[in-house]
Amino acid sequence: MAVRIAPAALFLFAGAAWAQRHDVNYDESKVPAYILPDPLLTLDGEVVRDAETWNNVRRPEILRLFESEMFGYSPGKPRDMHFEPQSIDRNALGGSAIRKQVRVYFSRRKNGPKMDILLYLPRNATKPVPLFIGLNFQGNHAIHPDPGITLSTAWMRPNPKTGVVNNRATEQSRGAAHSRWPVDKILARGYGLATIYYGDIDPDFDDGFQNGVQPMFYRPGQTKPGPDEWGSIGAWAWGLSRAFDYLETDKDIDARRVAVMGHSRLGKTALWAGAVDTRFALVISNDSGCGGAALSRRQFGETVRIINTSFPHWFADNFNRYNGNENGLPFDQHMLIALIAPRPVYVASAEEDRWADPKGEFLSARYAEPVYKLFGASGLGVDEMPPVNHPVMDTIGYHIRSGKHDVTDYDWEQYLNFADKHLMKK
Ligand code: GCU
Repeated sequence: MAVRIAPAALFLFAGAAWAQRHDVNYDESKVPAYILPDPLLTLDGEVVRDAETWNNVRRPEILRLFESEMFGYSPGKPRDMHFEPQSIDRNALGGSAIRKQVRVYFSRRKNGPKMDILLYLPRNATKPVPLFIGLNFQGNHAIHPDPGITLSTAWMRPNPKTGVVNNRATEQSRGAAHSRWPVDKILARGYGLATIYYGDIDPDFDDGFQNGVQPMFYRPGQTKPGPDEWGSIGAWAWGLSRAFDYLETDKDIDARRVAVMGHSRLGKTALWAGAVDTRFALVISNDSGCGGAALSRRQFGETVRIINTSFPHWFADNFNRYNGNENGLPFDQHMLIALIAPRPVYVASAEEDRWADPKGEFLSARYAEPVYKLFGASGLGVDEMPPVNHPVMDTIGYHIRSGKHDVTDYDWEQYLNFADKHLMKK
């Protein structure tokens, strides 16, 4: 009996997985017709005509919907959180930089959850500097070969190519992600850089939320976040806000001019952090795709069902309600971008990154524009998607560059230009 049933069951299982991958649509003509929710229509049916109604009525409504249906509610700043400087080198990177490493303890306990912020600041600055902050995928030591960076001891995804052995980084891991972090160029342009390993905040695997910061906030008897409470993306974004709490205390940094940047899942995170926390003066989404800048209703490349199935720990459980039901969403991702208004936001795509739906990323930026206009800001300033390698930069910036899913010097060049336009003039 068992011998006859097993192959059939196996076949069915393999069939389902196969069907799922082959269900991915990359054909523009097969994008379903859809109607986007109007960012300027309140739940009561009132048309939003001014910035005041947006700020007092519609923005809070939309934020609440994204919290309860997608990213989950996050707690505030923990009362006993504290910072401990680990090292300062005022003569780092051959004399061009100040390097600081600061440990953030989220509670009073030294053995409780914590994260390490690595900061590079231009050494020749005469006043507090504007700064980019972003989470990294491979540990702070991976962003630059600088031997002064503390080697992370946190859990990492195995990767023989970058020297991660038994889920831990080794000396060989130093500088492994260097190409994504042009530290010297950022400093030379007058900006500081702050970065944190995202796994310090919540390790990126589905363990039912036993590690990471979530358990710190469980009510008595609670063992995992509720259906409308934060998943990993919510936690990573929360970590960015906690890092901001530190930045505000550092006299070398101008906390009014902080840009948050992230790639891919961390691009989704940067958008959410910027939406929730208005202290971020500028927001950058690099190839953030589904759950980030891409419109869900287009179902082009990755879909809500696929993302929730592959990464069940990223969003609040409620987001599963929209698996195969994108039209049921009370928002779409243009409204995530609109939550950032009137602060400048930059959305970047890569031509070969069809999984992330470059056109859907562009359209989100485009359809957020009416909200920017309420503030007298111009928004994106173009109606059509610009050609490859032709950035557009108004209050909303956008480019699609040639190449694959990655962060390149080309991307950073645009972010620096965009930041110059918006942050350097302040
Ligand atoms: C996967 C996932 C994407 C995500 C990406 C990344 O491809 O499907 O949603 O953006 O990983 O973070 O690199």
